[in-house]
Amino acid sequence: MLNKNVAKLLNEQVNKELYSSYLYLDFSNYYRNKGLDGFANWYFIQAQEERDHALIVYNYLHENGEIVSLEAIAKPHVKIESSEDPLKAALGHEIFITDSINTIYEAAIKAKDFRTQQFLDWFVREQGEEEANASGLITKFELFGKDGRGLYLINEELKARTYTPPSPLTRTE
Ligand SMILES: [Fe+2]
Ligand SMILES: [Fe+2]
Repeated sequence: MLNKNVAKLLNEQVNKELYSSYLYLDFSNYYRNKGLDGFANWYFIQAQEERDHALIVYNYLHENGEIVSLEAIAKPHVKIESSEDPLKAALGHEIFITDSINTIYEAAIKAKDFRTQQFLDWFVREQGEEEANASGLITKFELFGKDGRGLYLINEELKARTYTPPSPLTRTE
């Protein structure tokens, strides 16, 4: 069993990660309709990774004897009006998720829950990468994406991304 507040926050995190997956699937959906299949591929994989994040937290709760309650997932909140909108919204969303992870970490420290702190360390690092990737994409788009050839090249680059399940999901021990 975990501390009540820590368990509650982790439960909410399952929903937040599933929502992230839904949001990125919506971004993929937008780019797919626009014919930007590389951008669509990037966010399709991003959606898979976010679902995986939810599953990692889900597994952790179960492994600790907690009851997981699956709540409704909200409709994606971002109104997309240009190709750059999803990139900017993604960074904002990742910062929001980082805050959320930090809040759980803080609660785990308060509860002297060292196991959850260790569990969350992977997420802390992951959020650093997520924010760096999200702002890297914005920089790239602003530098090269406003010109047709540049946009073509970014799209080709993003097409090459492949899905690998995150390590906490593939651990066998
Ligand atoms: Fe995530
Ligand atoms: Fe993320």
